Amino acid sequence: MKGGSGAVLNKSMEKNYEGSFHIVGGDFSRAGEASTELKSILQSLGIEKEIVRRASIATFEAEMNIIIYATAGILRYVITPEEIRIIAEDMGPGIEDIELAMQEGYSTAPEWVREMGWGSGMGLPNMKKNSDEFYIDSVVGEGTRVEMVIRRQIFSEGRSNDH
Ligand SMILES: Nc1ncnc2c1ncn2[C@@H]1O[C@H](COP(=O)(O)OP(=O)(O)OP(=O)(O)O)[C@@H](O)[C@H]1O
Ligand SMILES: [Mg+2]
Repeated sequence: MKGGSGAVLNKSMEKNYEGSFHIVGGDFSRAGEASTELKSILQSLGIEKEIVRRASIATFEAEMNIIIYATAGILRYVITPEEIRIIAEDMGPGIEDIELAMQEGYSTAPEWVREMGWGSGMGLPNMKKNSDEFYIDSVVGEGTRVEMVIRRQIFSEGRSNDH
């Protein structure tokens, strides 16, 4: 990938694919690059459209939050026959009140970020909505880690919006 973004596709395992992208905080010129790349990897593996859609939305929102709020981050993915696991980890300010940050419409995005069309406070809720499993962990002054699992079997039990 161009610009040293660090996309690494490891095909050594027979059925598992994994790789990572480096994301630079503040670099809006590359907004969406990692999630677009992951989307094409998922498509090239023939993964079902709806699963690709959910994974892409979740990844894009995680990528944008690193660009907007953090200094730097890594977005890792692991694709197995059962699931797509996406881990977004950053060095940054962290989140003081995760429960508040998870609420729809809550945003601390500054005005100039809102003028670019971001900062609706919908990213984290959308990540959760599009994942079957969603974990968020943050340490103020250190950074934030989000882990999301999207199961590939659509009718598998425990889908977040089934109950
Ligand atoms: N990686 C992060 N590091 C630090 N703070 C974060 C991070 N991700 C989210 N936040 C905080 O949580 C708030 C809510 O995040 P969320 O993604 O839901 O909305 P947003 O980024 O403000 O707007 P949108 O995603 O709709 O463009 C953010 O405004 C910010 O305060
Ligand atoms: Mg966001």
